[in-house]
Amino acid sequence: MIEVLKSADDLARQKWDVLVPTMGALHAGHQSLIELAKNYGKSIVVSIFVNPLQFESTTDLNTYPKTIESDLQMAKDAGASAVFVPSEKEIYLGEIERIDAGVVGGLYEGAARSGHFSGVLTVVKRLFDLVKPKYAIFGEKDFQQLFLIKEMVKKLQIPVNIVSAPTVRDINNLALSSRNIRLTDMDKKIAKVIFEALNTNDLEQAKAVVDRQPLFKLDYLNLIDENTFADADQLTGNKRLIIAGWVNQVRLIDNKAIGGR
Ligand code: PAJ
Repeated sequence: MIEVLKSADDLARQKWDVLVPTMGALHAGHQSLIELAKNYGKSIVVSIFVNPLQFESTTDLNTYPKTIESDLQMAKDAGASAVFVPSEKEIYLGEIERIDAGVVGGLYEGAARSGHFSGVLTVVKRLFDLVKPKYAIFGEKDFQQLFLIKEMVKKLQIPVNIVSAPTVRDINNLALSSRNIRLTDMDKKIAKVIFEALNTNDLEQAKAVVDRQPLFKLDYLNLIDENTFADADQLTGNKRLIIAGWVNQVRLIDNKAIGGR
């Protein structure tokens, strides 16, 4: 079985090349991050911590899937050296400074889930302080989260290199997510509209595609500048379509780079 670390002291016994932060309920998307981590060093630690600070409602927190036994196996199979599974006390010990997510932290996912990104940044900073990795891997699937983590690292001059990993999808092109287990087969058919919209590579056409599927409840669909998260215009270089919405009670998000690459 894989080595399971529970405390800061356990972590301190070794130097860590790469950290892959997760909230567990691991799937092939998480595993692809661990596979990628192998390109950046030998000692790879996967953290599994369902962070209460980033959940808006206790129901969402309490119903978040927990599959620790299969998580340990999946982390091992993908090539992790160890898994860090801290208690809440271990993470939120004493006075932890809450990180402000700034203006971009209040947009899109941040507008839908108040305080969410401050919670994410606070736990990620704490994990960086505890693990002190040379590299940390995050998925493009959560593009706004990735953006905000890169911004935080720059601003606070944290000595870690952030590596981004492409989104892993199922055979119908639905981005893998721990929440997908709550989707029925019918829901998954409806959710196909997300990739169909992104695949138009065009904001107006994407909107038209979404309009044709009333069972997908759109929250936002926009074309943004990857470097600032501002609305893209004709002069914008790297653009990205971002989308979020609900299929029944399940919130789904996705994004796609547009143009030149
Ligand atoms: P979680 O949702 O468990 O995701 C952990 C990492 O896996 C994130 O970097 C996320 O972007 C990536 N990921 C999720 N689905 C993916 C997919 N289909 N393809 C590729 N990568 C994928 O994101 C979080 O946890 C938390 O906010 C965390 C950063 C751990 C802080 O609590």
